[in-house]
Parts: sequence; structure tokens; C-alpha cells
Amino acid sequence: MSESVTAKRKLQGKVAIITGGASGIGESTARLFADHGARMIVIADIQDDLGNRVAQLIGTHRCTFMHCDVADEHQVKTTVESTVQSFGQLDIMFSNAGIISDSDQTVLDLDFSGLDRLFSVNVRGMALCVKHAARVMVERSVRGSIVCTASVAASRGGRKLTDYCMSKHAVLGLVRSASLQLGAYGIRVNCVSPNGLATPLTCHASGMEMGELQKLYESFAYLKGVVLKPRHVADAVLFLACDESEFVTGLDLAVDGGYVPQ
Ligand SMILES: NC(=O)c1ccc[n+]([C@@H]2O[C@H](COP(=O)([O-])OP(=O)(O)OC[C@H]3O[C@@H](n4cnc5c(N)ncnc54)[C@H](O)[C@@H]3O)[C@@H](O)[C@H]2O)c1
Repeated sequence: MSESVTAKRKLQGKVAIITGGASGIGESTARLFADHGARMIVIADIQDDLGNRVAQLIGTHRCTFMHCDVADEHQVKTTVESTVQSFGQLDIMFSNAGIISDSDQTVLDLDFSGLDRLFSVNVRGMALCVKHAARVMVERSVRGSIVCTASVAASRGGRKLTDYCMSKHAVLGLVRSASLQLGAYGIRVNCVSPNGLATPLTCHASGMEMGELQKLYESFAYLKGVVLKPRHVADAVLFLACDESEFVTGLDLAVDGGYVPQ
């Protein structure tokens, strides 16, 4: 194999779970992990048709779909344990599944049933994936890498989407605590924090079509010549997942083009 090919294979032989891997950032990361030689990528998502289709497109010899609602501890535990049983171990957990509020609520009209639903995925689900991935890594003495998807909303207030902003702040607390606690086992825990980008999640929140939303993001142009795409986030996740970041833990890696809100 030529040097350029081996240099590209940053995840040779690794087994990874990607939650929310059927769409958007998770899907793009699944493709990138496959390009980098991951031995098996498990897409854990609630969208069965889409998840199976992504696995087939990547190739079922290195990617498979498992139905998993991250808000349900039993399903998360089963997904992690079946991955280890079927593929030998778990090296990487990309805990990425997330949802966004249905409305542009401020704190004045916060809807608590909506908040509970959102927290069950964005906070409880994120923590369940970190917990169960870490448990099997500890049990099997795997010096694994756990990466969560936070957001720029994890470290600053928002003018709307209050519950989403609160949930992403919680992800940062989870990553900082887990990284301190799991360092003793050689397990790294980091997160990526993207700014807004066009995916089904933001289309849903804005009520805009993908093309229309993409154009809106292009018009912001705070980093000349580049518009944030899922692939940019996937590149950051790859860095945190592979050995190039071997001494990096507890990091919130902003993928925001240096955006500062006015
Ligand atoms: N798009 C953005 O602008 C943006 C910015 C910052 C952070 N994020 C975060 O990125 C992550 C991925 O979002 P995306 O933009 O790729 O959106 P997306 O909607 O394209 O992907 C999210 C995926 O999560 C899955 N999912 C939702 N609920 C789930 C559950 N209970 N169990 C398992 N899977 C579930 C969905 O089916 C979907 O496939 C989310 O955590 C989101 O909060 C997105």
C-alpha cells in the first residue's frame, strides 16, 4: 500500500458506533470513518429505512444498522453489547443523535412537555451512550475514544430555542466530567461544537427546504469562501476519534468558522 493510502487510513481496524448516523452529520461521519478503514461502523438510529440505506451504500461488510432509541437505556445497552458481541470490541462511540425544539420559544413561553422530550434525547440519550460505551471499554481495557455532538449553543445563551441551548450546555458538563473520570482508564471524551448548518434538523426547525437554508447560511459568509457542511464536522470528529488526538481529552472543539454572535 502506498504511503498516501496508509496515511489516509486513520481508523484501520476500529469498531465504531454512530448514533444519529442515518442523516446529516452522523451520516457524513459514517462515510468518512469507512474511508478511513474502520472495520465496522454501527449506525444506531430510529430511522430504520434511512439507516439501512446508508449502511448499504457504505457497504454491509463494514457498516450495519441497528435500531436504537438513545432515550431508552435498554436499547442503548443492547446496541453496545451486540456491537461488542458481533464485532469483538468497541473503540469509538460518536454520540451524536439529537433533536431540536418545534418552536422558537423564549423562556417566557417555555413548554415543559417539549422540554422533557428534548432532554430525553439530547441529555439523557447522550449520557446513556457515554455510560454504556465507557462501561464496555473499561471492562475490556480498551483505550477508546468517545465523541459527543454539542453545539455553539453549548457555551453561550440563545435568543430562542431555550430548551435546546440548555440541553447542549448539559452535553458540555457531561463531556467535562466524563473526561476527568475516564482518563484513569485511558478513555478520552471530547465533543464537537458546530455552528448552524443545513441538515434535516435545521430544516425542521426553520421550516425551510435544504437548498433555501443552504443559501441563507451562504449569505452569512463570516469565513470567506467556506460554508459549514456536515463533512467539516465529520473531519473534526475523525480527528478526535483517531490517534492523532491521542493526548486530547475534555476538549470542546468548535467547528464554527470563528463566528462571534453580534
Ligand atoms: N445542524 C446544525 O445546525 C447543528 C448545529 C450544532 C449541533 N448540531 C447537532 O448535531 C447532531 C446531529 O444533527 P444533524 O444536524 O446532523 O441532524 P439530523 O436530523 O440530520 O440527524 C439527527 C439524527 O438523529 C436521529 N435521532 C433523533 N432522535 C433519535 C433517538 N431518540 N435515537 C436515535 N437517533 C435519533 C435522527 O433520526 C437523525 O438521523 C445533533 O445532536 C444536533 O443537535 C446540529
